[in-house]
Amino acid sequence: MNAIIKSEKKHFPVLLNELINIISPLYGGTFIDCTFGNGGYSQEILKHKSNKVIAIDRDESVMKIVNKFEAKYKNRFHFKQLKFSQLNKLNPKPTDLKGIIFDLGYSLNQIQDKSKGLSFNSDTKLNMRMGLNEFSAHEVINKLEYEDLYKIIKVFGDEQKAKFISRKIIANRQSQKINTQDLVKIIDDVKKYRYTKIHNSTKTFQAIRIFVNNEISELIYGLIESFKLIPLGGIIAVVTFHSIEDKIVKFFFKNYSERKNLSRYLPNLNNKKILFTLKNKKPILPSSKEIKINPPSRSAKLRYAIKIKNNEDFRDFIEKFKIYLDIENIRKKL
Ligand SMILES: C[S@@+](CC[C@H](N)C(=O)[O-])C[C@H]1O[C@@H](n2cnc3c(N)ncnc32)[C@H](O)[C@@H]1O
Repeated sequence: MNAIIKSEKKHFPVLLNELINIISPLYGGTFIDCTFGNGGYSQEILKHKSNKVIAIDRDESVMKIVNKFEAKYKNRFHFKQLKFSQLNKLNPKPTDLKGIIFDLGYSLNQIQDKSKGLSFNSDTKLNMRMGLNEFSAHEVINKLEYEDLYKIIKVFGDEQKAKFISRKIIANRQSQKINTQDLVKIIDDVKKYRYTKIHNSTKTFQAIRIFVNNEISELIYGLIESFKLIPLGGIIAVVTFHSIEDKIVKFFFKNYSERKNLSRYLPNLNNKKILFTLKNKKPILPSSKEIKINPPSRSAKLRYAIKIKNNEDFRDFIEKFKIYLDIENIRKKL
């Protein structure tokens, strides 16, 4: 998520300085910004005249900002409306690619756009599509059977009350279609009172949003496609906002970079694929100053790795997160 400071009506992307510090030694080439959004990262990279940016975003509503960038930066900036998983459609492929960056989640503009229905304050039909989607939250909530709703809300939302919420959705939709505020009321009725500081609906809405936008497969195939695009010595950097995203990025970078020798009595697993150098084993987190002025940044984690070897076969990576991909495959029932 692009956590943004609302005062002064300026957009401040999370961990911007930290990201720029990581990629600046590679300046003088092309960078792919996979989450253009409000253009915060792209703009900072383009401040250096020797840099070019190819940006993508699944949401066509970023076009207003894209047009301004194209006018200002001319042939140093190009945009294509694509999803992460479609990175292989970039044509022509950049020859001097230095880095690929991701700032996952959604932007303030998207959450404020009531028609997108990403916020539980929205009073419209359920939607949650960020762009280039096959179905909406309306179909998910009004069509899927109990078992499927339960899995989505439990696993993608880590919602303890997933069973009761799913049951009540099924019961309530017998009489009428469920809209955004109906869903908020169902969750409030089940949870009765607020257990924590977070809104009753946060976890269920996160779960449905992840499912509607195929966020898990987008991330997994986005990382694989980035790996194929980036040359040796190039950087892949990712800012995550929730634990499933971070688990996937952490595994991708760490599993392919460390030679874990658990015991000197065990055989050394020399056949393990070493594809990256990791400069920071731990994620980079926002400073207390950033969190103070911009509280939503508190859950951000920045991880990056430098590619050192080519590889075509990522079946083990895909297999590792099969449990999530299987849940996303429930979409085939819609
Ligand atoms: C947090 S915002 C990025 C903000 C940006 N870094 C900035 O500085 O303004 C995330 C953006 O990524 C886009 N996005 C999310 N998932 C995507 C995907 N799978 N493919 C392409 N774009 C995606 C969203 O539409 C949104 O515009």
